[in-house]
Amino acid sequence: MSATTSQLQVDGKTVDMAIKTGSIGPSVIDIGKLYAQTGMFTYDPGFTSTASCESQITYIDGDEGVLLYRGYPIEQLAEHGDFLETCFLLLEGELPTAAQKADFDYRVTRHTMVHEQMARFFQGFRRDAHPMAVMVGSIGAMSAFYHDSTDISDPHQRMVASMRMIAKMPTLAAMAYKYTVGQPFVYPLNSLDYSSNFLRMCFAVPAEEYKVNPVLSRALDRIFILHADHEQNASTSTVRLAGSSGANPFACIAAGTACLWGPAHGGANEAALKMLEEIGSVENIPKFIAKAKDKNDPFRLMGFGHRVYKNYDPRAKIMQKTTHEVLNELGIKDDPLLDVAIELERIALSDSYFIEKKLYPNIDFYSGITLKAMGFPTSMFTALFALARTVGWIAQWKEMIEDPSQRIGRPRQLYTGSPPREYAPIGRR
Ligand code: CMC
Repeated sequence: MSATTSQLQVDGKTVDMAIKTGSIGPSVIDIGKLYAQTGMFTYDPGFTSTASCESQITYIDGDEGVLLYRGYPIEQLAEHGDFLETCFLLLEGELPTAAQKADFDYRVTRHTMVHEQMARFFQGFRRDAHPMAVMVGSIGAMSAFYHDSTDISDPHQRMVASMRMIAKMPTLAAMAYKYTVGQPFVYPLNSLDYSSNFLRMCFAVPAEEYKVNPVLSRALDRIFILHADHEQNASTSTVRLAGSSGANPFACIAAGTACLWGPAHGGANEAALKMLEEIGSVENIPKFIAKAKDKNDPFRLMGFGHRVYKNYDPRAKIMQKTTHEVLNELGIKDDPLLDVAIELERIALSDSYFIEKKLYPNIDFYSGITLKAMGFPTSMFTALFALARTVGWIAQWKEMIEDPSQRIGRPRQLYTGSPPREYAPIGRR
């Protein structure tokens, strides 16, 4: 990383600040000493201009619609690789050799079962609990079951915790689903690949033989690749902040999962499908477009817009193709939701409001239709996102823990509350 200097004038004083340059993308001004030199903080709610860390994992060029994992374009990884290869790449920094891939697959597969007492732990939830509520609780609970991988200062324990989370997340997500539909949990079958195993744990029942559809399994694997990491988004930043205090990795991933749940983030896939259902038919689209444009109406087109992408989300393009593959495979010729989605996209992309604000479809716009066609209820969509994003969270957490300059994350504030005042006893207020 090369460095030059920038200057800031504050109260007639000139302060020098280093400019740090990364391998690609915008440079950053290092303001680390600003408070010591000026007595002032910077102010950036929503972190729109603030780089919170240095990272080598994922790169996004929002203007060009580019997403790279460790330098590899998402399109190439989704086309040629599988999800566990992407996991290895994100964690280790390089694509695996054939021997490394076989070893990694074996190690992840060996950890797919969860502690049997966790099944009883599930019984404590209400049957109608949202799967994300169950996920947040059960992921956090893993720290109570796997004590031998919570010491973050031990690289071996960090590695075991990482394997456990990648391996057990599908099992927990499938259990969360089975619990809400009142069916018995299905144990993992380690002769199956990662995505096929997950489909089987979700949709097999003991009374019948279950055959995995390879087209659906491949589509799901691709969906997992597309969701695997997305640099310093809200949930990843949550994981990093939680981890910066030294919290154990299971607790950190539970924190990230909680953050992902919100409708502005991972909850948008569920919200997007609900919106398409609410729109119902192509004739109703203009009414909803008008609502989205009305400043006095809080309604937004879910699955549209992104903090970073001011161009078509590259993941949305792959997702759209995957949607068609899945619907074709399942023989769904006329899906009214797909008709609404295609027409909504067409109208929005030619509307001046969306063009001026650079609001394009994001990954969540098409993922809901695909997951619904596969048989997942809407309430499971964000749980699937959490499953796939776990590897990204872990890679980012690991990168932070292994950075020698790592310190606890502690943002500052602009205080606008009352100045100091005297306490008044209750009778004199
Ligand atoms: N529909 C209508 N108007 C919108 C939309 C939308 N989906 N998104 C943004 N705008 C408008 C917004 O009203 C604002 O207008 P103005 O400047 O006149 O006030 C302008 O565009 C900028 O919006 P913003 O809220 O300041 O932008 P942001 O970067 O803070 O928010 C976002 C990004 C993703 C939260 C937002 O676009 C949104 O709420 N989209 C819908 C939810 C969604 O699809 N989220 C999934 C994101 S991708 C998956 C993930 O990362 O989890």
